[in-house]
Amino acid sequence: MNILLIAPPGAGKGTQGTVIAEELGLPHIATGDLLRDNIARGTELGRASQALVERGELVPDDLVLEMVREVLERDGRDGYVLDGVPRTIEQARTLYQTAVELGLTADVALHLHVPDDVVVERLLARAAEQGRADDTADVIRHRLALYHRVTAPILAWYQQRDILVTVDAAPPVEEVTREVLAALESVRLDDAPPADTTGLAAAFGVPPEPSQP
Ligand code: AP5
Repeated sequence: MNILLIAPPGAGKGTQGTVIAEELGLPHIATGDLLRDNIARGTELGRASQALVERGELVPDDLVLEMVREVLERDGRDGYVLDGVPRTIEQARTLYQTAVELGLTADVALHLHVPDDVVVERLLARAAEQGRADDTADVIRHRLALYHRVTAPILAWYQQRDILVTVDAAPPVEEVTREVLAALESVRLDDAPPADTTGLAAAFGVPPEPSQP
C-alpha cells in the first residue's frame, strides 16, 4: 500500500507513521527526519536546509523532491508511508509525476486532523522534553501558519482524486492508531481503482487520455 501522510505540525505524523509502517510492513519515509539526519551529518543538503528548518520555513521544493525521489526509488518499491510531503502544490504535482514514472502512485492520502491549540500544547510539551530547535512558541506558530496557507489547500486535490481519508487525531495515541488502521483497512478492501478526473490529472501534469470513438 502506498500512503501519503499529510497533517499540521504536531498532529502525530511521526507517531502514527511509525506504527502504520510497522503494522503494514512498509518503510516509514519522513522528510523531516531525513532533513534532520542530513543536518546532523553536515551534508550539502543539510547545510542548505539547516537555517530554514530551524526557522520553520519550507526547504525549497527541488531539494526536497530530489531527496524523496531517491529514497522512493531505493526503499518504496513495495509500498511506503510517506510522511511530510507534499507540502506545496508544486511538490504535489512533481511527486505525482514521479510516482507515475515509478509505478508508485498513492493509494491513500491520510489526513490527521487536530485543532491548532492541541498541536501547540503538544509541541511545547515536546520542547520541554526534547528541545527540538524548531519547537519554540514563535516557530511553532509560523509552522502552523504555513501549514494552513500553503499545505492544507492541497487536501482538496486528493479529495477530488477520491483518495483522501481524514481521521480525528486529537484523541489519545492508541485511539487514533485504531481509527487510522481501520480506515486503511477499508481502503485496502475497496478494490475499485481510485478515481482520477481528467481535470485533476491534467492539473498534475499528465495529459488527458484521448477519448474513444
Ligand atoms: P517535520 O519533522 O515533518 O515537522 P512537522 O511537520 O512540523 O511535524 P512534527 O514532527 O513536529 O510533528 P508530527 O506531526 O510528526 O507529530 P509527532 O508524531 O512528532 O518537518 C520539520 C521541518 O522540515 C519543516 O518545518 C520544514 O522546515 C522541513 N520540511 C519537512 N518536510 C518538508 C517538505 N516536504 N517541504 C519543505 N520543507 C520540509 O507528535 C508531536 C508530539 O505530540 C510528540 O511529542 C508526540 O509524542 C505527541 N503526540 C502525538 N500524537 C499524540 C496524541 N494523539 N495525543 C497526545 N500526544 C501526541
